[in-house]
Amino acid sequence: MKALLLALFICEAVVANVTVKDSIIQEATAVYHKFHEMLSQKVKSQISQGGLYKGAEFCANESFENIKEFNKTLADNVSLKRVSLKNRNPNSYPQDDERKILEAFDLIEKSNAYLPSEIVQMNEEGDYKIYFPSTMSSKSCKSCHGAKKGVNEEVYELFKSKYPNDKAFDFVSGQVRGAVIITVKQK
Ligand code: HEC
Repeated sequence: MKALLLALFICEAVVANVTVKDSIIQEATAVYHKFHEMLSQKVKSQISQGGLYKGAEFCANESFENIKEFNKTLADNVSLKRVSLKNRNPNSYPQDDERKILEAFDLIEKSNAYLPSEIVQMNEEGDYKIYFPSTMSSKSCKSCHGAKKGVNEEVYELFKSKYPNDKAFDFVSGQVRGAVIITVKQK
């Protein structure tokens, strides 16, 4: 009887845990889509109004601030950031635990395997980090992250003056460029 109760208890715990994880993934995915929609709309509208240079100026001077503003719209225990192992913004380099997951994305890519839509990591405090890979999914990414020699000269100069340690060129189509990380703290 005791064994049965214990088995039931374990099953329940497992089911409960899966449910918590699933609902956190669901919540994070909704936040991610909203963020992606917001930022890509803004970049697109800048480019269609004022050309690529205007879009580049927006990305260089306003996108980081926009991400901060977006964070203010989220629940207190939820936060979002963009990171990359080959970062342009010096503030967008991942922390140690995050670096491992970004390396995992690169490894998956190099193994000709399909990238998962997200990877979930849990830390010792029970907080979740949900990683959404950010890939060179459209031609437009290349105009600011593609081969240096292919990038518009003025745009290149703008980035060079703003980011002296810019590592975010020479990416090819489909490549993992970085990730959006959504952290959900246990309340
Ligand atoms: C008009 C130029 C432009 C376009 C188009 C563009 N980016 Fe960027 N991207 C930038 C700039 C500038 C930054 C640095 C922003 C900052 O200071 O935080 C950046 C930052 C990033 C970052 C954050 C990490 C880092 O390196 O600082 C990721 C991830 C990223 N871009 C992915 C993409 C992807 C994927 C696409 C295509 C869907 C894309 N970008 C299109 C200019 C651009």
